[in-house]
Amino acid sequence: MFWLLLVATIGAVAALDNGVALLPYMGYNTWYDYGCNISEAGVLKVLGIIAQLRGYGYEYLNLDDCWALKERYSNGTVRVDPVAFPRGMKYLADKIHQAGFKFGIYTCRGNLTCAGRAGSLGYEAQDAQTYAEWGVDFVKEDSCYASSNQSVAFSQYARMRDALNQTGRPMVFNLCGWNPWYAPVGASLGNSWRIGDDGGNWDKVRENIDNMASLHWWTNPGAFNDPDYVLGSDPRTYGFLTPTQSRAQFSLWSVLAAPLILGMKLSNLSSWDLETITNREVIAINQDSLVTQGQRVAGGSLMGSSPSSFNVWSRVLQNRAVALCFFNNAPIAQNISCDSTCFAASGLAPTTVVAVRDVWLHKDIGFAQGFLVSEVPAFSASLFRLTIQYM
Ligand code: GAL
Repeated sequence: MFWLLLVATIGAVAALDNGVALLPYMGYNTWYDYGCNISEAGVLKVLGIIAQLRGYGYEYLNLDDCWALKERYSNGTVRVDPVAFPRGMKYLADKIHQAGFKFGIYTCRGNLTCAGRAGSLGYEAQDAQTYAEWGVDFVKEDSCYASSNQSVAFSQYARMRDALNQTGRPMVFNLCGWNPWYAPVGASLGNSWRIGDDGGNWDKVRENIDNMASLHWWTNPGAFNDPDYVLGSDPRTYGFLTPTQSRAQFSLWSVLAAPLILGMKLSNLSSWDLETITNREVIAINQDSLVTQGQRVAGGSLMGSSPSSFNVWSRVLQNRAVALCFFNNAPIAQNISCDSTCFAASGLAPTTVVAVRDVWLHKDIGFAQGFLVSEVPAFSASLFRLTIQYM
């Protein structure tokens, strides 16, 4: 009786049911590109460029910190920085919508944002209403100047969740609390939750990959673990990787069903970065309708005192297919293999024959049965789509 009651209680959590982000959402965020130097002119410039990527699935143009002033109006309404955004947020939202994009905004569950602008603590209902009036489609809520106690964090996020629900306008709700412990409750609070630190360099990217390894249980339509933004290889941005590392990150983000939010400078994008973020076969893995998150099926932690020199990650896809990502964590090229144990962990019996396609090369490379090896350059990854032929 006691156990039945307990199970019933656990099952009765409130849920965010806004009908959005059924697949990992795709778009752009200003933080690694502009930091606090954001402006209407800068955002409109991004809009002109990203509009060309709409056909690949990129859909959200999201402002990060620094669009608001520290002080609110006397009636409590949040104040847009009038110098950076002279025509206000409604104007910007309209422009973004006219270009076929959706508009995202940033706030914080503390009384200040990380950059010291007005946070939403105590103003959740008023801010949510303001966002709805502007036409906001996405809200990221950060955790600076706020308690790190889990139950306080959950109840503060629940307040914004309820306030957003109350407006009647569907807005993706992205929690930014930098911890894996959000995952088990994430779906009851928002559409996605940051599972670690800002991933602005190679070490942080790998730390976030390690954090993702145990969190696949919590991925569902409308509910995603968020390992932070997709980086390019442009050193002018606040966060960037080498060209091969950035492609490795994009491969992993696809297998992990992570939101594909670009954190790169879109003007003067190198042809390499453009090719990375517009690879339809890789994006199709990310957007696969089974909405499962990939798992590590060979190798262990990429960071820490004795890191693995390689990983293999796999993700089950629709139409009897599996994505396999071979990740080289060493500074030299090496052959990485997925053996029968690794195949079994990917749901493939040793007798099963699969057709193998290299999705970066856009090339069918043959058949495999219980074993696949790939030569992977230093700190890089290869990515294959396996399709089951017969068991
Ligand atoms: C951090 C957050 C970043 C960015 C920044 C803005 O806390 O993780 O993604 O939003 O604040 O100040």
